[in-house]
Amino acid sequence: MSGALAKALAGIDPSLDLLEEIERLRKERNAVILAHYYQDGEIQDLADFLGDSLQLSQAARDTDADVIVFCGVHFMAETAKILNPEKIVVLPDLAAGCSLADSCPAEALARFKALHPDHAVVSYINCSAAVKALSDLICTSSNAQRVVDSLPADQPILFAPDRNLGAWLQDQCERDMLLWQGTCVVHETFSERKLVGLKSEHPKAKVIAHPECEPAILRHADHIGSTSSLLRFSQEDSATKFIVATESGILHQMEKLSPQKSFIPLPPEAGCACNNCPYMKLNTLEKLYLCLRDLNPRIEMSEELRLAALTPIERMLALS
Ligand code: 13P
Ligand code: SF4
Repeated sequence: MSGALAKALAGIDPSLDLLEEIERLRKERNAVILAHYYQDGEIQDLADFLGDSLQLSQAARDTDADVIVFCGVHFMAETAKILNPEKIVVLPDLAAGCSLADSCPAEALARFKALHPDHAVVSYINCSAAVKALSDLICTSSNAQRVVDSLPADQPILFAPDRNLGAWLQDQCERDMLLWQGTCVVHETFSERKLVGLKSEHPKAKVIAHPECEPAILRHADHIGSTSSLLRFSQEDSATKFIVATESGILHQMEKLSPQKSFIPLPPEAGCACNNCPYMKLNTLEKLYLCLRDLNPRIEMSEELRLAALTPIERMLALS
């Protein structure tokens, strides 16, 4: 944590009612609070809009608020800024990154791309603005198939940065793609051994999984999809028990929307709490209050980079 943030946190009056203050500041600033399903339940509950990566970028594009408070990770807030150059976009903790985005530095992708000049570059939205600027198309886990299918069948594709989503897409879309070898620190830790154990303990439970999981997990899944797709399936399917292979934050909404059903989070191999995204969970109520109060830390970028990153995002939004 930066020294300035630690100091600001230490300076918060402990008698302050944070929920009341957030409410007051949200109105005063004409701010909208967008939150991803992987945020803590208390943040999900106060958000103006809750969604998956695609829904959040659509909400960011459509809002008429002056300030966007993005309770998610850096690439999501950056996407909101790319779509809204005139708005103030703040992220409660600038250190909320993403292992997938970190796995794919723009200079390295540029070198890889130069080796394959005939390939179209399709990038998962979990990447930096600089990587987006090198891409022909952006996708999220909820529109990835549609985005890949929009390219002619004979068009070779370089897909970055998630090798698991990429491998799943190759199967779904029945085409070969060159895959960048990035992974999500959360989804790669799930244990197939523990999944098989849970399945035999709960034979009627359905397995639902995010496509960022490794193929060994995905082959056990009854349903694979984005966070919003998993949530929808858990509501609509007749099963009453689900083994959930994605970040644990989603369980808050699943339990809220289907209180009569039960949800078992898939444990990681190490017995750690690695199914909590360490980046998503950096955002707290205290930091949310501070960023609304101080309108800081802000997401900024050069106009040249923003315009280059905007084109492939707009192509994605037109297809969604
Ligand atoms: P979706 O929100 O598209 O399901 O992706 C999950 C994710 O990895 C967010 O970091
Ligand atoms: Fe990135 Fe994985 Fe965290 Fe999503 S869950 S923000 S992909 S590290």
